[in-house]
Amino acid sequence: MLTLKNKTAELIAGAVDKCFGEGLLAASDIVSMLEYPPDRSMGDIALPCFRLSKSLRRSPVQIADTLAGSIECEEFSSVSAVNGYLNFKIDGTAFAARVISDISALGDSYGSPKCGEGRVVVLDYSSPNVAKPFHIGHLGTTVIGHSLKLLHEFAGYKCVGINYLGDWGTQFGKLITAYKRWGDKATVEQGGVDELVKLYVRVNNEIKAEEDASVAGKPEGSPKHSELADASRAEFAKMESGDEENLALWRWFVDVSLEEYQKTYKLLGIEFDSYKGESFYTDKMPAQVKKLRDMGLLEIDDGASVVNLDKWNMPVCLILKSDGTTLYPTRDIAAAVYRKETYDFDKAIYVTSAAQSLHFAQWFKVVELMGYDWHDKLLHVPYGTVSINGAKLATRTGNVILLKDLFAEAIAKVREIAREKNPDEAECQRIAECVGVGAIVFYYLSNNRMRDINFMMDDALSFDGNTGPYAQYTYARTCSVLEKAGERGKMSGAPLGEDEVELAKTLAAFPERVISALSESEPSVITRFILDLCAAFNRFYHNCSIANCEDPELRQSRLALTSAANQVLRTALHLICMQSPEKI
Ligand code: ARG
Repeated sequence: MLTLKNKTAELIAGAVDKCFGEGLLAASDIVSMLEYPPDRSMGDIALPCFRLSKSLRRSPVQIADTLAGSIECEEFSSVSAVNGYLNFKIDGTAFAARVISDISALGDSYGSPKCGEGRVVVLDYSSPNVAKPFHIGHLGTTVIGHSLKLLHEFAGYKCVGINYLGDWGTQFGKLITAYKRWGDKATVEQGGVDELVKLYVRVNNEIKAEEDASVAGKPEGSPKHSELADASRAEFAKMESGDEENLALWRWFVDVSLEEYQKTYKLLGIEFDSYKGESFYTDKMPAQVKKLRDMGLLEIDDGASVVNLDKWNMPVCLILKSDGTTLYPTRDIAAAVYRKETYDFDKAIYVTSAAQSLHFAQWFKVVELMGYDWHDKLLHVPYGTVSINGAKLATRTGNVILLKDLFAEAIAKVREIAREKNPDEAECQRIAECVGVGAIVFYYLSNNRMRDINFMMDDALSFDGNTGPYAQYTYARTCSVLEKAGERGKMSGAPLGEDEVELAKTLAAFPERVISALSESEPSVITRFILDLCAAFNRFYHNCSIANCEDPELRQSRLALTSAANQVLRTALHLICMQSPEKI
């Protein structure tokens, strides 16, 4: 399958060989020089020939004039030279026939760049911190991460999705302290992760109150003290030295939390291949610390062991605290080494908020300094912040919107609307889940990932506008047209009009969009493609009747176009973690 750009580039390369001599330019050099003119009346695709001047040693005007005379292809109705530009106009009917037959021949793999075959990509995403809330700040890592996994799978990579749970650390000391003082088994069993978060929030608040009280009336800068904080540190130390009671509590807390996360993952259709969290790497860090020390990379800074990154204009990377305990970067380094050994990845992607960009830049550099030649296969994919209806988040105080509540609210709102039309309770629930969850995912993935987002629930759920419900509704419309017709049609030679050709052109752009989404790690490219496709399909649907079309050949072509739109829309929705219900 050739994209329009590839195909055009090949034609040009052939003409260059013929007119200017063999081997001066390859099609692969030309692809990136091609443009889609903003004013389509000039052409559907164009080559600014000044980009060839250097290699061909001619003026752009000369090049354009020469090439225009020697390119022939039935898919183009004209190839013309205008002021140093080579403009190609598509013959709509021939072009659409080729595109639609490609799409039906390739089936669900249409659009796959197939660049991943035989290669492995490891994706580290979602990765919530156990016992802390799983909140809307995690929406980005969860859906961008999963969408990147689906895109890579689509391109033929073998993907390993890893949920690197934050399942170790001082927060467990706090949680155990809180549980031992105020918690009980039955309440946690009943309340699940919410109960754990309550305990965690309470212990944090009380520590703060104790600390404040300890300095009340004393001169500024006096050392703060909290008995609860001391107790928490002691509980964590016990955990680290293998205390069975505390380890059993820890395991239980992790299980309770995971059970809760799974519900959200299930709604999103996410399954991880590995849940190896931070705790798994405890015994894998010493070897890396030793290597750092043996290589002379560690410096002592205020008692802590660090790697100096001055030369790269970054603050030091902390490896060991002054008390010898390990840190977040230490664990990431050990985990990367383990993953390289276990999966032999060609690419390892980490999706986190942009607040962690420095952390990743630092430890990536340390991995390089350690001489691991795969350091350049590590990729951090950051994203911006989320607020909801204008309100910012504050994790520590418990003033957060949980991810599960966000989805629950969307589902409840859609269910209300669905109930008016559909009396079947189970069916309503199913639709409400597809549409409600899809609405949030779509809204979130509509923006470039680095943009800060203010989430407006009512906008996300609206059926008018560029939303998830609108996209799913359009998909359901393609299904109903095909169902009514009882067949999927076949391209005939019947001449096509503008709306039909526009739909074919939009469908033809899909493979290129997939490539950009992958190379920019940007699922929003697919979301925008979906909106383009929905707009093109809906225009076609309103202007080109199928049921009342009197020309049987034209009717066949229109059905084939609908069928292609149906297939590509389903693929594209899947790539951004959305379901495509056949009825809404
Ligand atoms: N648990 C971390 C957090 O919630 C994210 C982990 C990201 N992955 C990693 N390998 N550091 O902030």
